[in-house]
Amino acid sequence: MASPPSFPFARPQAWDPPAEYTKLRATNPISRHKDVVSVLTDDRLSKERSRPSFPEMSTGGKEAAKNKPTFVDMDPPQHMRQRSMVEPLFTYEAVAKLRPHIQKTVDTLLDKMIKEGRDQSVELVEKFPLPLPLTSIIYGILGVPFEDLDFLTQQDAIRSNGSATATEASNANKILLDYLSKLVDQRSQGPKDDLISNLVTEQVKPGYIDRADALQIAFLMLVAGNATMVNMINLGVTTHFQNPAQLSKLKADPSLSPAFVSELCRYHTGSAMATRRVAKLDIELAGQTIKASEGIIAATQSASRDEDVFSEPQTFDILGFVTRENDGRGEDGYQAMGFVWGQHRCVAEPLARSELEVVFATLFQRLPGLRLAAPFEEIKWTPLRKDVGLWSCRSCGR
Ligand code: HEM
Repeated sequence: MASPPSFPFARPQAWDPPAEYTKLRATNPISRHKDVVSVLTDDRLSKERSRPSFPEMSTGGKEAAKNKPTFVDMDPPQHMRQRSMVEPLFTYEAVAKLRPHIQKTVDTLLDKMIKEGRDQSVELVEKFPLPLPLTSIIYGILGVPFEDLDFLTQQDAIRSNGSATATEASNANKILLDYLSKLVDQRSQGPKDDLISNLVTEQVKPGYIDRADALQIAFLMLVAGNATMVNMINLGVTTHFQNPAQLSKLKADPSLSPAFVSELCRYHTGSAMATRRVAKLDIELAGQTIKASEGIIAATQSASRDEDVFSEPQTFDILGFVTRENDGRGEDGYQAMGFVWGQHRCVAEPLARSELEVVFATLFQRLPGLRLAAPFEEIKWTPLRKDVGLWSCRSCGR
């Protein structure tokens, strides 16, 4: 039998998924959409990182695996027990109430950019995608006081922008944890109407979880979506520059934004290394044997480009998703793997989608002349064996 291919694969060019996936879909079923779904819904595969031989991808990952687990690293039934403590705050109905606040946050950041001069060349990543998810919405949900936003945003940016040193990132991590720890104590003494207060009054006090769990859950909710949100906004902007015809459609009709976001999260799978599992026992999957304690990584990037599920999957086309159903997000929106599949599907998907929808309905209306200030080749992308994303992109012509 041929030896398995070495993973992670490199992207052939910065924005495309590894070419190996196309070959694998033809020869190795586990990279096809339906088999990726099987992996992500199979209870014989565990997500617990404390299990020996869980497939960690870095030394940082091995260290993180020693922390007290939260629901992202749990199996049923503990997973759903803990996830359901936060889920009600992230439903489409709950997030709809936040929409005006999201719009205001986007408008404020864009106003600032416009004020700084329409023809100034600026580092777009710093001016817009980076501060948006950080300054805004999740802090309000958690109950972080307004006056602390700038400080926390700064620490959060150091932690997640990829260019800080390991020591700087780990210090920022500690500062955020210490901050949240104090907030947990304050809310225990004087609860308000926010996620941390809910956790302490409804979960810690009756004894369902302990204080350390509440702290770790709050931390998870603070950090889980930052890098992915920043990446998806960046990728949305560059994908527009690569597809001017699609951009014209969105400029002419901003109500296409939900379809744009669905296609963006299919075309770019921004968090493709998270879908790791370890077998609890010997199992057969799509005709292959996976032995107990063997690790497996579900190839979500491959599944989102599966020709059997999406027509012309290598083409970026928002019109494939346009529909009046599902608030314009497209019937295929759930099939794409950008937010993964099954019980670990992103708990904050409605929030993430809403933020992206507001961003892309607004950005090119407010800044219709937005363009790259330097050749496309000068965009700084993430390393080719890491998740697709970019670190730097200069723009002008606002
Ligand atoms: C466009 C932005 C986002 C993308 C592409 C994204 C993607 C994902 C993916 C792929 C997973 C599965 C990870 C895994 O299996 O380990 C996930 C899970 C999760 N995401 Fe997101 N996410 C985004 C935004 C957010 C935001 C804004 C938050 C928090 C406010 C968040 C919180 C979480 C949490 C807590 C989980 C764990 C769910 C569970 O295990 O049950 N995500 N997300």
